[in-house]
Amino acid sequence: MFDTQTTKDTPTFAHRRNSPPIMTVRNLSLHYGEKLALDDVSFDLYANEILAFIGPSGCGKSTALKCLNRMHDGARDVRIEGEILMHGEDIHGPDIDPPLHRRRFGWVAQKPNPFPTTIFDNVAYPARLHGLTRNRKALKAHVEQCLRRAWLWDEVAGHLMVKIGTDLSGGQQQRLCIARALSTKPEVLLMDEPTGSIDPIATQRIEDLLVELKAEQAIVIITHSMAQARRIADRVAYFHLGKLLEVQPTEAMFAAPQTAEARAFIAGKMG
Ligand SMILES: Nc1ncnc2c1ncn2[C@@H]1O[C@H](COP(=O)(O)OP(=O)(O)OP(=O)(O)O)[C@@H](O)[C@H]1O
Ligand SMILES: [Mg+2]
Repeated sequence: MFDTQTTKDTPTFAHRRNSPPIMTVRNLSLHYGEKLALDDVSFDLYANEILAFIGPSGCGKSTALKCLNRMHDGARDVRIEGEILMHGEDIHGPDIDPPLHRRRFGWVAQKPNPFPTTIFDNVAYPARLHGLTRNRKALKAHVEQCLRRAWLWDEVAGHLMVKIGTDLSGGQQQRLCIARALSTKPEVLLMDEPTGSIDPIATQRIEDLLVELKAEQAIVIITHSMAQARRIADRVAYFHLGKLLEVQPTEAMFAAPQTAEARAFIAGKMG
């Protein structure tokens, strides 16, 4: 069930481009109190793609990501306008159960937020919640696989049941959160700078993992690394002061950004 080995016939974003998008965002605006943080944002998310959000700090990337799985629900002073559809259905519609909606997503936050429980329970909890494993043995195998994929297993295998997630180093916590996000094999993975505090070797492993995972999932990743976006993204979305100024296939975005703002940002980051 959790085996996501890629094969030669693995569907790719290019293959699926003619399929309808998984998610459609139209004219999305968001206010935090008086502050307009997203201004008329529209984009699509397709199956089997990695879509990277880039742009200067404070431009609205995290805010936009959180809209997709309704992470702003319950936040005071947040006002959302516009439309977000998932498989054609309005995610704010009356038939949508917000917790069930959120369970379709894996979420890796900008700041690692492991549960204050054992390493094992951090990864096992979502699988238990979804009823994904039949017995303890299957659950243990599943937890091991998630930790291996997040490149954390070797560092924690000896103390899975005793060490508390919040007692790990920053980079280990981030990889634990990645393992937790993988635990339910979500339809869409939302990752806010998932390798921000991870060393280069583990970063490369995580990037390889994401490219492998897109055979079965759509991934939206926020990154401040243009090199990372270039290596793994199929398309890149450039945000600026709350606006989504352009979305382009990765090659095109880096070869010839359409807007002066994206051009200057990319040139500054690459230079
Ligand atoms: N909870 C909040 N309440 C009020 N304003 C907020 C809140 N969260 C974000 N903002 C503001 O909204 C704007 C967009 O923030 P957001 O976190 O989406 O930026 P970002 O592009 O993710 O930046 P970074 O690259 O630094 O993470 C910023 O001006 C920020 O100060
Ligand atoms: Mg952010």
